[in-house]
Amino acid sequence: MDINSSNVGNRGKISFESPSNIALVKYWGKYGRQLPKNASLSFTLQNAKSITTCNYEVLSEKQNDLQLDFSFEGNQNIAFANKISKFFLSIEDIFPWIRQIKFDLTSENTFPHSTGIASSASAMSALSLCLCSIHEQLIGPLDNFFKKASFVSRLGSGSASRSVYPYLAQWGEHPKIEGSSNQFAIPFGDEIDELFKTYHDDILIVSKNEKSVSSTAGHALMDSNPYAESRYSSANDNLTALIQSMKQADLDTFINIVEREALTLHAQMMCSDPSYILMEPNTLEMINLIRSFRQETNVPVCFTLDAGPNIHLLYPHEYESQVEELINTQLIGLTQDNSIIRDRVGLGPKKI
Ligand code: PMV
Repeated sequence: MDINSSNVGNRGKISFESPSNIALVKYWGKYGRQLPKNASLSFTLQNAKSITTCNYEVLSEKQNDLQLDFSFEGNQNIAFANKISKFFLSIEDIFPWIRQIKFDLTSENTFPHSTGIASSASAMSALSLCLCSIHEQLIGPLDNFFKKASFVSRLGSGSASRSVYPYLAQWGEHPKIEGSSNQFAIPFGDEIDELFKTYHDDILIVSKNEKSVSSTAGHALMDSNPYAESRYSSANDNLTALIQSMKQADLDTFINIVEREALTLHAQMMCSDPSYILMEPNTLEMINLIRSFRQETNVPVCFTLDAGPNIHLLYPHEYESQVEELINTQLIGLTQDNSIIRDRVGLGPKKI
């Protein structure tokens, strides 16, 4: 749908903050237009977020070149601007008005630079929420705002589709999950025991270095990975069992699946061609310490990993002081410069 000519010359401003998320069942492997090879499930985080503001002006006609300025944390950033331009042009079929707008975008993250923490989920979801909001202002209400925002976010970064809902989000067609889709994520917070809404995620930074393999390259490696098909089907089975454990607050099963999912993601990278080892020696040392601590104390703390060396320490709020002790006495010395990002399960994005 095109912009009504009465809107020409109008200016507006939209701001959204949107969080990152941490997958419990991992998405790794994709096809077509950023569609997942298996279903995934994630906790929505609270503190690690992107805040994006979109100033816009409606031009009299569509432009050949996208009109876009972008600054990140106060500085012009050409590399990010190019990435965003590419994304905007790729969604022209969804927002045909995109070439008729002059964009002035600013964005910042609440988590520090160079911590090895990927920001594509928070950044792409914040941006997509702004675009959906502009669409509503220029064209009219969307049937389901967050579903559309999840769909658009997915095209920017697959995992970003899961950042737009409170507590928990599920993405990817799954025979046992009603309403599940490869096209967008669905909210999943109502399906689980309340205990999981109190979960903490303390991110222990083992290395602040950039990832040695981008997630785009990582997903592509799955296309020639000899174990890929069995991985996709085990991910879907793990999701079924994980959801059951989260309904029943069965923490032993939850921990078992979450840790195996993290290690399986890394195992896929180890047996890809070329192969990658994304853990560092301190990652492994922390894993062993977390497991021993759990065995000795029965505190239900577990770890998960992204496609990098940093440990995400997951535990219910009631165990905060015991886990603090574990961090202070055993784990903090294994981080780079005592770096730790404290996060929790959160309420999802907010218009500001
Ligand atoms: O959204 P992408 O393409 O950056 O993929 C992210 C994949 C993992 O973070 C490793 C797992 C996941 O499901 O978030």
